[in-house]
Amino acid sequence: MELKKVIESRSSIRVYKQEPVPLDDLREMVRLGSLAPSVANFQPWKFIVVTDRELMRDMATQVARKLEEIPANESKAAKNVKSQVEWFATFFQDAPALIAVAMEPYESVLEKGVVMDHDEINRQRNYPDFQSAGACIQNILLAAVDMNYGACWLSAPMMAKAALSKMLGLEDKYLLVAFVAVGIPDKIPARKQSRDIDEMLKIIE
Ligand SMILES: Cc1cc2nc3c(=O)[nH]c(=O)nc-3n(C[C@H](O)[C@H](O)[C@H](O)COP(=O)(O)O)c2cc1C
Repeated sequence: MELKKVIESRSSIRVYKQEPVPLDDLREMVRLGSLAPSVANFQPWKFIVVTDRELMRDMATQVARKLEEIPANESKAAKNVKSQVEWFATFFQDAPALIAVAMEPYESVLEKGVVMDHDEINRQRNYPDFQSAGACIQNILLAAVDMNYGACWLSAPMMAKAALSKMLGLEDKYLLVAFVAVGIPDKIPARKQSRDIDEMLKIIE
């Protein structure tokens, strides 16, 4: 597909047909994801592809449990908010495939030569490792569209990342960043209104 068309037709797909996604296709999405730019070409990523339904359900249970632990406030909306967020955080359990994207936190060369700790340098540079992971995830989403799949980026489940990392057997040096749920779209949401370009863009000539 033409790149512009892929970008324009991508939207977050959360309901899928039950057909499996072949491992070769998931591998290709991950390969294309890994071609994204990364800070100092660090390529910090590690991917885990999950199609094991039981594991996905157990992971969703952990996420729901974590959400339950958060006390609701007194508002009328509180109950609705929690159940809505729970769905957005756990629908991945019904996806045919899930790609977990993790990264190795980036250590800047600056750390070797200045009196400033890792976290402060990372903060001042606006978290280049997370930015790299974001570029990679977007590549995966676009690759999925190009291959006629639907996908959705999920950060909400990360509230349970300690438990999820363990369940995925992720080595300690990696930090779980996000999930990408993938499958053949069953329900394509209505097109969203995009913001006007002139409202977002400032040109300095
Ligand atoms: C960093 C990030 C985290 C997201 N986390 C979730 C999530 O946890 N659950 C979910 O259903 N959608 C999640 N989304 C998808 C957004 O809700 C979606 O991109 C947004 O509503 C715009 O819709 P579109 O992707 O269809 O253009 C996330 C998107 C991004 C970029």
